[in-house]
Amino acid sequence: MERKVANKAQRHFVTGVSMITSNGRHGKNVMAAEWTMQISYDPLLIAIFLHQSSVTLKNIHETKEFGINVASEKQSTIVNIAGGYSGSEIDKLKVKNSFTFLKSKLIKSPIIANCVINAECKVFLIKKIGDHVMVVGKVVAMRYDKTKKPLLYHTGRYYQIGALIEPFRQKVKVNKSTFEWFSKEAEGKFILKCDGAIIKSGEKVLFLKHTKNKLIYETIPYLKPKRGINYFHLIQKYLKNIGLNVRLKPKPIIKRLVLENKSKNQRINFVLFKGVLHDISSKNLLWKKEGKFLKALCN
Ligand SMILES: Cc1cc2nc3c(=O)[nH]c(=O)nc-3n(C[C@H](O)[C@H](O)[C@H](O)COP(=O)(O)O)c2cc1C
Repeated sequence: MERKVANKAQRHFVTGVSMITSNGRHGKNVMAAEWTMQISYDPLLIAIFLHQSSVTLKNIHETKEFGINVASEKQSTIVNIAGGYSGSEIDKLKVKNSFTFLKSKLIKSPIIANCVINAECKVFLIKKIGDHVMVVGKVVAMRYDKTKKPLLYHTGRYYQIGALIEPFRQKVKVNKSTFEWFSKEAEGKFILKCDGAIIKSGEKVLFLKHTKNKLIYETIPYLKPKRGINYFHLIQKYLKNIGLNVRLKPKPIIKRLVLENKSKNQRINFVLFKGVLHDISSKNLLWKKEGKFLKALCN
């Protein structure tokens, strides 16, 4: 690998910045660490990656605990102090007009005020990885401030979070029965995931009668897949089981829709496979052409 390219490319990652607080023989200390990441929900584990000569690492080796303070957008000045000097060079905690500390609950390192998140950690694992040392902390106490926004770090500079970007989702106004059917199918989930088949005969599309709690609804063949199940194999098997001899193309088509009815809406993600039915004549089948919902699925 060309080192010159890598050196430049690696600056183009985007991260937040945490300030790692520690305590030990080297005194109370704080360092900046952009390489900070939650890596497990339960137990709640956060990994930080420290260079071998950092005073913070020496403190952590000794006391087996540390604080992770996720910097907010107004904290670039203190992040620069934490990241610009080593605890072996100056006592960063005492720099005039800089850090405000809070008392931690379960560790001896201080935690920093006005951060987005403060996590008190006990060492779970320390492992040398490449030229850094991975320290995984198990969170023993945590607080957050939802009024604060995180500071971002990119190409060696600090940024604020910009405008929200909503991924594209097609809005479809649907009738009451369609809306009610799919919002019931969603069972309160923010996004309903479906696996369906578009089987065409000329301009028309094959519909099936779906039933749920005595309700009947006619739409394309579809299922609600369980997590981790192969969508193509699932719908193929389903069609076969109900006696339809369909040749499906394995290329998935993804339709991200918002069904709207009056002021209500329901998000649906459809993964669709196109197919052709062999023995059309032999079945008493429903073929439909109309409807905004169907158009949104087919176009
Ligand atoms: C924004 C920023 C992010 C940084 N991220 C890391 C990091 O993830 N890991 C690391 O080892 N050093 C990182 N550094 C450098 C350390 O913060 C720096 O070497 C510091 O002086 C170490 O302090 P200490 O010796 O008092 O522990 C970063 C510096 C800055 C300015």
